[in-house]
Amino acid sequence: MRILVTGPRGFVGARIVQALDAVSAPSLRDATEDDVRRLVEEVEPDAIVHTAAISDIGACAANPEASWRANVALPLMIARTGVKCVLFSTDQVYSGCAGEGPYAEEETAPANLYARHKLEMERRVLDINPDAVLLRATWMYDMPIYGLPNRFNFLTGMLRARELAFSGTAHRAVTYVREVAAHTERAIALPGGVYNYGSENGLTMLETARWLKDALKLDVSLKDAGPQHNLWMDCGKLKGQGILFEDTLAGLRQCILDYGL
Ligand SMILES: NC(=O)c1ccc[n+]([C@@H]2O[C@H](COP(=O)([O-])OP(=O)(O)OC[C@H]3O[C@@H](n4cnc5c(N)ncnc54)[C@H](OP(=O)(O)O)[C@@H]3O)[C@@H](O)[C@H]2O)c1
Repeated sequence: MRILVTGPRGFVGARIVQALDAVSAPSLRDATEDDVRRLVEEVEPDAIVHTAAISDIGACAANPEASWRANVALPLMIARTGVKCVLFSTDQVYSGCAGEGPYAEEETAPANLYARHKLEMERRVLDINPDAVLLRATWMYDMPIYGLPNRFNFLTGMLRARELAFSGTAHRAVTYVREVAAHTERAIALPGGVYNYGSENGLTMLETARWLKDALKLDVSLKDAGPQHNLWMDCGKLKGQGILFEDTLAGLRQCILDYGL
């Protein structure tokens, strides 16, 4: 299967390209519909995995027009190619939900612009291409590794910081990005629709951080950041399709083993 990955120099895209030996797309910043169509005609992919995005909540809020172009207009161009496509969305679509969670796919209430654009993207992509697969990802982590891009994440933050604050009430999962990449081929085979896609976590972020601190004997002081909104996903729909992620602690244990930490 020939898979085209957008955002291959990004945190997630680079690891998917590595895991699948996929074809890397060029940068699609300011790409036109014709640019996207030409790319697809050249590569003739069986599937497109679209990770390119402005993924920083603050950057989206600071430049809503750029956020809309990257996070809505560009995915719509991908969907209009008619190729089977998998597009990344976010657990932030639950950031304003009234209930405590865990949240199933239909219970959305985005509380920031990034999340509103991602939700708009999901709905409009499915209108154009009902076969498209939309993956709502959690905050992902990996170790810095030679030749691959990294970004601030839960694990590197815990390893480097002397003091960190996490909510002692908010339930939120973090997911090992290599597990995300490893499941990609199965994600391509999913029936069209929206899926919560990552680890589940019954612990609060502060409890999760305390566990990691103890597991790695880290010299980091952990404080309670106070109440924050839950971003706790129910991944039952994904499990029903046979894609099972480790829970957050098991994923962290695997990463510790993989890197001999
Ligand atoms: N990382 C996480 O923890 C996380 C959590 C939840 C959801 N997600 C979602 O997962 C996907 C991948 O995330 P990521 O962390 O890999 O993202 P990333 O590293 O921040 O960015 C991926 C790529 O997007 C491209 N890009 C940046 N600005 C762009 C723009 N204005 N127009 C078009 N392309 C642009 C860049 O590629 P070029 O430099 O080649 O243009 C960049 O390498 C995104 O959809 C993100 O919203 C990520």
